[in-house]
Amino acid sequence: MAIDMHTLVDRARGLVSRRIMADEEIYRLELERIFNRCWLFLAHESQLAKPGQFVTTWMGDEPVIVTRDSHGQVHAMINSCRHRGNSVCRAEAGRTSSFMCTYHGWTYGLDGQLVGVPGYEERYHGDLDRRQWGLIPVSQVASYKGLIFGTFDPQAPPLEEYLGDARWALDYILDQRSGGTEVVGGVFKWLINSNWKLSADNVMGDNYHGAITHRSATTVGHQTLSRIERRNNGRGDDLPAGPGVRPGFSAPLGWGHGFMCDLQPPGDHSFMEHPEPLRSYYRETLPELERRLGPMRARVKKINLTLFPHASFTTSSNMLHVWHPRGPTQTEVWLYVIVDKDAPDEVKQLLRQSAQRHFSPSGMFEQDDMDNWELSTQAAGRTISRNYPLHYGMGLGHEGWEDDGVVSRQINAINDESNQRAFYYGWDDFISSGNWDALRRKRAAWESGQPVAEGAALGG
Ligand code: FES
Ligand SMILES: [Fe+2]
Repeated sequence: MAIDMHTLVDRARGLVSRRIMADEEIYRLELERIFNRCWLFLAHESQLAKPGQFVTTWMGDEPVIVTRDSHGQVHAMINSCRHRGNSVCRAEAGRTSSFMCTYHGWTYGLDGQLVGVPGYEERYHGDLDRRQWGLIPVSQVASYKGLIFGTFDPQAPPLEEYLGDARWALDYILDQRSGGTEVVGGVFKWLINSNWKLSADNVMGDNYHGAITHRSATTVGHQTLSRIERRNNGRGDDLPAGPGVRPGFSAPLGWGHGFMCDLQPPGDHSFMEHPEPLRSYYRETLPELERRLGPMRARVKKINLTLFPHASFTTSSNMLHVWHPRGPTQTEVWLYVIVDKDAPDEVKQLLRQSAQRHFSPSGMFEQDDMDNWELSTQAAGRTISRNYPLHYGMGLGHEGWEDDGVVSRQINAINDESNQRAFYYGWDDFISSGNWDALRRKRAAWESGQPVAEGAALGG
């Protein structure tokens, strides 16, 4: 049955068709209109610190090599030989001066240029124009404070424009200290049988699930913290409050970006929710953070940020999850731990261990989440269930928009699904817009607070 693309996101009621979580045709469209157009996270610069270092990654369904050449410049190109298409790099990361295809030996430089062809004189008679047969380049590559992004769309706006107000949250993650950040340890990589969007929307805005989904993990965590508290301070009564409505705000931005921000009560710089030596580290570096980012961000307790489409940051253990789509019902998750470069080693290791314990494939919280996402995805593909939309309508029409100059669009509390709605509005904008001028108009309308009432009503 043909799908009417205008009925997938119902903005008037906050409903989202289940079909977008499992349908092959929609998935192909996502690759074309989202993953081939948007700026996508490629790597952290610390992974490419030295000339010749490279990592391989994904941009949608295209495998990509990201390199630093001998002049220090970063390049990104598709990992497919121009001769017969074989991969030219089989490693996940490393250091090299060139990439030799294992099929017939065509060899490419760190900038993707074709530099070696076996039998160039004897077999090709010198007739092959090697300048035309380099690896297919990623159209634009740019960095933002240590994060390298790329886009296949030569028309895509500059990276900073694409990120927009999400930079307020990104700066909190990347720019607290003058030395910048680095990735600590390797990258966790695993497959889950769920649609990539369910993960991206969860991290960006789902403040509703924690009390139920993570109840057992939280209970155990509280006990663990309690023991740490007693050991460190001889007291166990300063534990984090239970989940619920929390002080802070949500920022449902345009183009599908958004973040939610938990705040400490004014004047509370105790960092009691963290064990030592993290707590001391946060206290000691707070003045530098405040100097660099101002008083509001000095109050931040935790930020959850999703950069559309698929890069989700959680500052609780300094994590970046990237949700690489591997089909409509499968996602390859990559987890990075990003720490201040100048932090003491024991702080870096503690954050890495914390991310591993909580949100790696064996992490107590990640396992809870993955289980839910997989069952939601299965239901989205079933013959009857798929005709009934998903409900993202919590708090619709009761948002309490605020403007205190932090970002262009924010809500005064973290207690609804406004971020997740913004994610699907952005998704809908990319799926339905043929060019960046139309996308710019839609983003401006959303961020200036004009009502957006597109999309026909869904059944159910
Ligand atoms: S496929 Fe790469 S050299 Fe032939
Ligand atoms: Fe969760």
